[in-house]
Amino acid sequence: MKRVITYGTFDLLHYGHINLLKRAKEQGDYLIVALSEDEFNEKCKYKKCYFSYNERKQLLEAIRYVDLVIPEISWSQKIEDVKLYHIDVLVMGSDWEGHFDFMNEYCKVVYFLRTVEISTTQIKNDLNLKGG
Ligand code: CTP
Repeated sequence: MKRVITYGTFDLLHYGHINLLKRAKEQGDYLIVALSEDEFNEKCKYKKCYFSYNERKQLLEAIRYVDLVIPEISWSQKIEDVKLYHIDVLVMGSDWEGHFDFMNEYCKVVYFLRTVEISTTQIKNDLNLKGG
């Protein structure tokens, strides 16, 4: 069985996320999403989520492409995750292009182009503008 992992925050789940997860699953048979925990988001990624970790986890678990959701609590856990879960492919969005090339020593690394014109930040901005 070919195992794939990807990392992210996935707040206000949108079709850009779904496209990424679908393509990630197509890289193998079993997809793990390492989902950024709230504290990691706030302290390390400087993101404040609308949905809590448990809410985001529940949403991801309801998606047919996702087999397992694990917590992402640090930047440095990737090597450990790849070994622990016997990962064959690490998928990252093109916003991270080149950043994880060092992981090629442990598994295949693939960067996917982002879906254009959609992001969690964009949704938040649009709703703020239209909220009145
Ligand atoms: N992603 C994507 N296409 C988009 C938005 C996100 O392929 N339009 C991918 C990212 O590249 C990443 C994953 O989905 O691999 C999770 O992205 P995340 O940062 O949680 O979503 P964004 O919508 O980019 O959120 P933000 O605006 O807060 O950065």
